[in-house]
Amino acid sequence: MKAKTVSYVDEKLKIIDQRALPRKFNIIESRDIKDVYQYIKTLAIRGAPAIGVFAAYGVYIGIRDMKSDDKKAFFKRLLKTIGYIKTSRPTAVNLFWALNRMKKKAFINKDKPISVIKKILIREAKKIHREDKQMCEAIGNNGARLIKSGDTILTHCNAGLLATTGLGTALSIIYKAHAQGKNIKAYVDETRPLLQGARLTAWELRQKGVDVTLICDNMAAVVMKQAKIDKIIVGADRIAANGDTANKIGTYSLAVLAKAHNIPFYVAAPSSTFDFSLKRGSQIPIEERSGEEVRKISGIYHAPEAVAVYNPAFDVTPSRYISAIITEKGIFIKPYRQSLKSL
Ligand code: MRU
Repeated sequence: MKAKTVSYVDEKLKIIDQRALPRKFNIIESRDIKDVYQYIKTLAIRGAPAIGVFAAYGVYIGIRDMKSDDKKAFFKRLLKTIGYIKTSRPTAVNLFWALNRMKKKAFINKDKPISVIKKILIREAKKIHREDKQMCEAIGNNGARLIKSGDTILTHCNAGLLATTGLGTALSIIYKAHAQGKNIKAYVDETRPLLQGARLTAWELRQKGVDVTLICDNMAAVVMKQAKIDKIIVGADRIAANGDTANKIGTYSLAVLAKAHNIPFYVAAPSSTFDFSLKRGSQIPIEERSGEEVRKISGIYHAPEAVAVYNPAFDVTPSRYISAIITEKGIFIKPYRQSLKSL
């Protein structure tokens, strides 16, 4: 990939515009927090870890140009910025995790001059960014141990270079196994309605030289029945304390199918994706998006314009269907309520 999913260079916050991929490769800049909000909301930037990193920089963008040395006004603006970015998307907990981390950092240093707090905040955003890359490496290395030469791995949505600021989560495992010389193949669900699998995952796996086959979402059962799939690995947007996992809509059906066909089903995610304040997956807020995303494909109606649509962007896979959760801190197995405690 010739550019970075998120970059902050020379005071400019830039991202690859994922709405246009793979037809167009555009880099766009976020000049203010309205851009930050819109880019998250419209999926110009997407994927739980990437959203977290971008939001952290977004907090800094929100206060960067404040000229006044009135502390009260500064903190008011900071909280307003955080509150605003928080409303962009509800499911990926990495967004709230990163925003809370920035908020905490500012308040711990509240007695310092505003100019110093600003420097501390941009340093914290860069730290979150660095950590994200490192966690991708660690998840990839941990997960690659589960992959054998000859394996074919099915994945859903995009949990790769474009969903993080490193190699990805689920895809990092594929990239690492590939780099270790294991002979592996990938199958990718196209992931309606927004086609992250077709547009992003198939594209980035090909760029990295991984043997990839694209299927429509409704073909997953058949490829499993035909014994074409050895393992399934997906990412996560939020994982509750009992291991129940929210991820892109369609993940749950894959997990049920995996069980029916005796195929291991793995979730790969950093520790920032766990929400231990939630006991179970039913408490995870699920984003509902516009019906237009379902009525249209690439901006063209292929359904009656007035047809009613239900468009949840995520679903929750009960932890009983998850063979293991692969994190940067190790691989966790059932019972998750117990094993995840060490996180
Ligand atoms: O709506 P999206 O494209 O942001 O959804 C992304 C996913 O569901 C990913 O699988 C998840 O965020 C994990 S990314 C490492």
